[in-house]
Amino acid sequence: MKPRVLVTRRVYPAAIAILQEDCTVDYRDSLEVVDEATLRRRLQHAHGVVCQLTDPITAAALADAPHLRVVSQVAVGYDNVDVAAATARRIVVTNTPGVLTESTADLTWALLLATARRIGEAERFLRGGQWQRWDVDLLAGIDVHGKTLGIVGMGRIGQAVARRAQGFAMRVLYSAPRPLAGDAAAALRTQHVPLRLLLAQSDFVSVHAPYRPDTHHLIGADELAAMKRGAFLLNTSRGPIVDEAALVAALEEGLLGGAGLDVFEREPQVHAGLLARDDVVLLPHIGSATIATRTRMCTLAAENCAAVLRGERPPNPVNPEVLA
Ligand code: DGY
Repeated sequence: MKPRVLVTRRVYPAAIAILQEDCTVDYRDSLEVVDEATLRRRLQHAHGVVCQLTDPITAAALADAPHLRVVSQVAVGYDNVDVAAATARRIVVTNTPGVLTESTADLTWALLLATARRIGEAERFLRGGQWQRWDVDLLAGIDVHGKTLGIVGMGRIGQAVARRAQGFAMRVLYSAPRPLAGDAAAALRTQHVPLRLLLAQSDFVSVHAPYRPDTHHLIGADELAAMKRGAFLLNTSRGPIVDEAALVAALEEGLLGGAGLDVFEREPQVHAGLLARDDVVLLPHIGSATIATRTRMCTLAAENCAAVLRGERPPNPVNPEVLA
């Protein structure tokens, strides 16, 4: 009998084709987020699940899934999955690193440029019929070239963001639990510094850390107060790494020049204090959203899932100890 795979939400069809080669697919072909009761009911019969960051794969859901062997996340971040509970049940968890690095770095730069050059505000101004004439100070922003970029978390995406900064002749600082190995920092012309120093010296602070208990509110009121006056905060990683209420307060006090956010603490809700401001650019978690990248994320998730169910090592295990 073929193993059964639950696909919790709509994915690009190429992923379904991969799964159908070896598995029976229980495909929930819907954009609606699956409610917890439905998720748990359909997991009861599944040997694998292809899930998304909107799906709570909790210890309780895993406890109700006696046949489950693999949780395959369509994302690099997997904070919606209780990995410890999965590991305790010897369920493999996989993610999709690598394939979204460049697209997410591109979008980070779109946010950086949009905040510095007031792109959202300028477009609203034009579409709102307010443009009367060219003025010397009309929607004047700040320069990006030659400024200092501070990268918080120097994994694959942080490094791809740093690489792009060379084209803008920027000085690049980074903070991370461990410095880059070998000559990677020299190749990226970047310097490892403590977070406080990075905050004090950077004109743009861009967050690229994974979300874990130790990164919850990593950027809070104290860190925002430590930032250079008029600097910009960018976040394309996970919302709860930044204390949103503290960010709104810092913007209201005029401590920051603005912010560019692709992720939020309670998605899809956005803090009213952010929505009210012109100096923030707000995007609906689209960091990796190009057709090519999202397709590859879906197919990689399918490959991870199918590999485990064939008894093979998947390309991207998050808890490889289960495979040992
Ligand atoms: C991820 O992969 O974790 C993103 O947030 C979605 O691409």
